[in-house]
Amino acid sequence: MTAKLGILISGRGSNMQALVGNAGAAYEVVVVASDQPAAAGLAWAREQDIATFALSPKGIGKAAYEAALDGALREAGAEYLALAGYMRLLSDDFVGRWRDRIVNIHPSLLPKYKGLDTHARAIEAGDAVAGCSVHLVTEELDGGAVLGQAEVPIEAGDTPDLLATRVLVEEHRLYPSVVAKWLSQ
Ligand code: GRF
Repeated sequence: MTAKLGILISGRGSNMQALVGNAGAAYEVVVVASDQPAAAGLAWAREQDIATFALSPKGIGKAAYEAALDGALREAGAEYLALAGYMRLLSDDFVGRWRDRIVNIHPSLLPKYKGLDTHARAIEAGDAVAGCSVHLVTEELDGGAVLGQAEVPIEAGDTPDLLATRVLVEEHRLYPSVVAKWLSQ
């Protein structure tokens, strides 16, 4: 059975594009949703004839926003969700309704550097390696079980931007392969 995946984005959506580009027997992408109606990734998804949903929580509040999002995802047939640069915290209630069916990609080797500015923090700490992690989403920020990781060496003279660019290449490899394996079980 091919699993039906919904993807949540807030911006350019390069990880979303990698997931779409590597869909196959394990999963198909049935909807791309965003809290940012102007997100570049939404326009790309529309061009691929993928169903999209866009709604800003501004003015309606988080509960109404999430209720509408949840309804749209289910309406589109999504059974699982992948967060791909989705920059908003999901409520405990939303996470509970999709328990064990949401994954995220985070640009660090979790449990190191949860939250923001991961590459700057890794360089600042003098780490030899950085990387990215795919993990289950729970109520704890970047805290769910890690399903897969990829390492990227930190080089002399690295800046957060240079490192982020190299890690992103690995994100695009890691995310589709981990999601495919997760949804094949
Ligand atoms: C990536 O670095 C990802 O790890 C993080 O947000 C960024 C999203 O980039 N969660 P994109 O929108 O997928 O291009």
